[in-house]
Amino acid sequence: MKRHGYHWHMLACVALIAISAFAFRRPAPPPESPAASGPQVQATGETRTYELTAAPVRWELRPGFTTDAYAYNGQIPGPEIRLKRGDRVKVTLVNKLDEPTTIHWHGVRVPAGMDGVPYVSQDPVPPGGSFVYDFIVPDAGTFFYHSHVDTDDQVDRGLYGPFIVEPAEGAVPDAVVALDDWLLDASGKRLATKYTYQESETDNLLDSVSEATRPPTGGARHMMPNGMMMGGMQHEGMMDHGFAPEINGRYGDTLTANGKAGDAVAPITVPEGGTRLLRLINASNAMAHELKADDGRLLEIVAVDGTPLAKPVRTGTLTLTPAKRFDVLLRDGDGKPWALVEKRETGSLRIPVNVFGQAGAEPVFVSDAPAPLDLSKRAPDAVVAVGTDRMMDPTTWTINGVPFDMEDPGQPLARFSRGTWVKIRFMNGTPMSHQMHLHGMFMTVIARDGSPVGQAYRQDTVVVRPNESVDVAVLADNPGDWVLHCHNLEHEEHGLMTKIRVEE
Ligand code: C2O
Ligand code: CU
Repeated sequence: MKRHGYHWHMLACVALIAISAFAFRRPAPPPESPAASGPQVQATGETRTYELTAAPVRWELRPGFTTDAYAYNGQIPGPEIRLKRGDRVKVTLVNKLDEPTTIHWHGVRVPAGMDGVPYVSQDPVPPGGSFVYDFIVPDAGTFFYHSHVDTDDQVDRGLYGPFIVEPAEGAVPDAVVALDDWLLDASGKRLATKYTYQESETDNLLDSVSEATRPPTGGARHMMPNGMMMGGMQHEGMMDHGFAPEINGRYGDTLTANGKAGDAVAPITVPEGGTRLLRLINASNAMAHELKADDGRLLEIVAVDGTPLAKPVRTGTLTLTPAKRFDVLLRDGDGKPWALVEKRETGSLRIPVNVFGQAGAEPVFVSDAPAPLDLSKRAPDAVVAVGTDRMMDPTTWTINGVPFDMEDPGQPLARFSRGTWVKIRFMNGTPMSHQMHLHGMFMTVIARDGSPVGQAYRQDTVVVRPNESVDVAVLADNPGDWVLHCHNLEHEEHGLMTKIRVEE
């Protein structure tokens, strides 16, 4: 919950940390040995070490267009971390910002003490401080890492990077592309993202959003039988314009692929007559990116949030909601170059795809994700109802009526015993979509508005549409406290978060 301004926050941070040590924060757990209590892993015995220094940087988005940003090791996205499943990784975060920070390993099933959530898994790393993250990676797939302190601000400024885990054997050549959007003026100056809430305007605004986002009749809301979001958000155009970011999230007009805009976007290659695995990561605060091939070819999604699909999905448009990762098998058709393009009213992106080199064998993707128990008849073990504090302040988001307090997370919303399958029901009582992200464990959507979904697959971030109810199954096998929040980062930072506990 942040209704105060950013500068106030920066000044108050140090004081808050000091006070909270006495007043309301329980001490962060001591560093654990890797995977001491996390998921079961077949370890390779290899250890890889990285150092990530978070610091301000002057970042060139394209020649002649630069902006003040934050970066890990001076680059946006931060350095790629690449491991094999079962490797141990040690990452030293060095904080050279003048505010606290942490790193969260999005989608990676780490032990709770390594999860990077301030006041839940660790103390924030103060300016000048450092912290060693040390864990074994239990799953192959496309993940990413990002700051989890003032997330809407620090991630917006550039603190994110790819985290790629190859299978223990049989890795295929890939290309990694992190998508982002920036809100800058013509000189490259970052525009404020912390608007002051004005009551009268916002009340009307919620009503108008409500009208505009009413789902079309006839069930068109669920564009894919498997519940994957393919057709885009109906209210996307609306969300691009005009409203305070606490409500819509922060939308920018400079779109980037791997930190570069316009002609500075690096091309990717596909071998002649062959395929290339494209690992796409949406690192935007709030934007759902929509990519198409400029020649209209179909694109084949083989994995979502790191986990291979039992059946690949072919689609003309890749819609990546915030935090979403798609692994896409790009194919050479006729030997001609093509491009992945995104065109919006407020900006565009073009990622050239060149044809180059010899084709190898066709890759095979196999999921070893455990099939969820059939929980369809069971009552939910936890209900997570998303709303706003409309009486007090509609820019404050709530779960079960309560806005999350970052500095004082309080008691968990639910407790689960370790090793059990649980059913969580999300109920969205608001006129906006939310991208509900669970830390530490995967979710499998089993029903939307009470109807079973088609293909089941594991995700760490699930879209819950306006006024929709979504049931997910979770294998609660990772002990500790885990946050569950919307990955529209403005929503996250304005209360749309809660905490669950998996007990030993
Ligand atoms: Cu990628 Cu808690 O977030
Ligand atoms: Cu949200």
